[in-house]
Amino acid sequence: MPQWAAWIIGGITAVFVGAAGYSAWRLWRGLFQNLFRDRPIFGDRGGTLRRGDLVTALRFFMSLEQSQVKFYERQRQNITDPHLSLALQKFSDVEQQHAHRVEQQLHRLGAEGLKVHRGAGEAWGVISGLVTRLLGEKAMLNAGHRLEQKAIDHYLRLYRQCGDPELKKMLMDNLIDEETHSAWFREKLAQVQEREEGDSY
Ligand SMILES: [Fe+2]
Ligand SMILES: [Fe+2]
Repeated sequence: MPQWAAWIIGGITAVFVGAAGYSAWRLWRGLFQNLFRDRPIFGDRGGTLRRGDLVTALRFFMSLEQSQVKFYERQRQNITDPHLSLALQKFSDVEQQHAHRVEQQLHRLGAEGLKVHRGAGEAWGVISGLVTRLLGEKAMLNAGHRLEQKAIDHYLRLYRQCGDPELKKMLMDNLIDEETHSAWFREKLAQVQEREEGDSY
C-alpha cells in the first residue's frame, strides 16, 4: 500500500475514533452527571413541555429506572442481613415496574425507549451498586438515599412542566414510590448512626 493511502486510512480511522469518543462522553454527561447535579437534561425553559421534550425526558427516565433496578440488584448480592436483602429486592422490583410504566408512556407518545439509554443505565447501576456495596453498609444506604432524592427531584421537575394528565399521573405514582424508598433509607441510616453512637460509649 502506498504511503499516502496509509495516511488517508489512518486519518479516517482517527476521525471515527474521535467522533465515537466524543459521542460516548456526551452520552455520559447527558445521562448521568445530571443525576448528581441540579441541572435537568430535558428542557427547563419554563412553561409546558412539547412532545419532543417529553420523549427526551422519558428516555432519560428509562435510563434512570434501569440504573435503579441494577443498582439494587447488585447491592443485594452477598448481603446476609435478611431485612436489608428483602428490602433491596422489593426496591428493585418496584424500579422495574417504574421502567415499564415509563416505556408505556413512551409508546403512548408514539416513541420507543432506546437501547443505548437502557444499556447505559444498566451499566451505571451495575458499577455504582457494586462499588457502594464494597464500601460497606453505610455507604450503600447513603448512596441509595442520594439516588432516590435525585429521582424525586427529576420526577417533580418533569411533573411541574408536564401538561398531559395521564403522564402526570404516572410521574406522581413513581414519585411517591421514590419518596417511600428515600424515607426508608433515611430511617435505616438513622438506625445505623444510633447503633454506632451506642457502640462508642
Ligand atoms: Fe424508580
Ligand atoms: Fe426508588
